[in-house]
Amino acid sequence: MSTLLHIDSSPLYGRSVSRELTAAFVTQWKAAHPDGRVIDRDLNATAIPPINAEWVAAAYTPEQARTPQQKKLLSLSDSLIAELEQADEYVIGVPMHNFGVPSVLKLWIDQIARAGRTFSYGERGPKGLLIGKKATFIVATGGIYDAQTQMASFNFVEPYLRSVFSFLGVTDATFLTAGGTAVLNQGRDRNAFLAPHLQAVQMHAQTFQGELA
Ligand SMILES: Cc1cc2nc3c(=O)[nH]c(=O)nc-3n(C[C@H](O)[C@H](O)[C@H](O)COP(=O)(O)O)c2cc1C
Repeated sequence: MSTLLHIDSSPLYGRSVSRELTAAFVTQWKAAHPDGRVIDRDLNATAIPPINAEWVAAAYTPEQARTPQQKKLLSLSDSLIAELEQADEYVIGVPMHNFGVPSVLKLWIDQIARAGRTFSYGERGPKGLLIGKKATFIVATGGIYDAQTQMASFNFVEPYLRSVFSFLGVTDATFLTAGGTAVLNQGRDRNAFLAPHLQAVQMHAQTFQGELA
């Protein structure tokens, strides 16, 4: 039985482009995996505290030596990491905020990037521990940041997420980007705007099915 971890991080809910596209991915995925399980993690509905000195100390204390209080401090992190471990595939909706990822997604990354759990330091340097996973990132940006454009170097979303996830072992990552969503605020028809992006999401989901067959 396959498991999909579905993460959203846009605060805009019904107006969100990334949420609509991850929902389309999930629908397609469920059709292809009738016995599959979907874990939904809405980062805008999850209270994730910023890490502090006590959290760091707890994370770097060997598990057997942790106090009950330290275990409690790490319990959210443990649950979020368990979701990543249980899933075979991830679909992650990402709105661009100030040229980077939204703060709730960064708070989540700080909770799940943990030495000894999702990466380790060995003699040959760091090693990612999330092995055999496939990630699809669905990014929505108000402007357009295509390669070769003047704005490309302002896009810190894709390079950052590629680096962090490959550090954690997730090297199979696909980025589907809906660029230029600002036109939706200027009267452009939403369905017409979304149609090619919905098609790209569905095609990607189908290609993956083909790879499995
Ligand atoms: C707080 C905030 C910051 C934003 N910063 C940027 C930005 O730096 N560059 C950009 O192109 N669009 C920016 N936008 C526009 C969003 O990327 C755009 O609305 C996108 O559709 C967000 O994804 P969503 O529709 O899933 O929420 C910003 C929007 C918000 C709300």
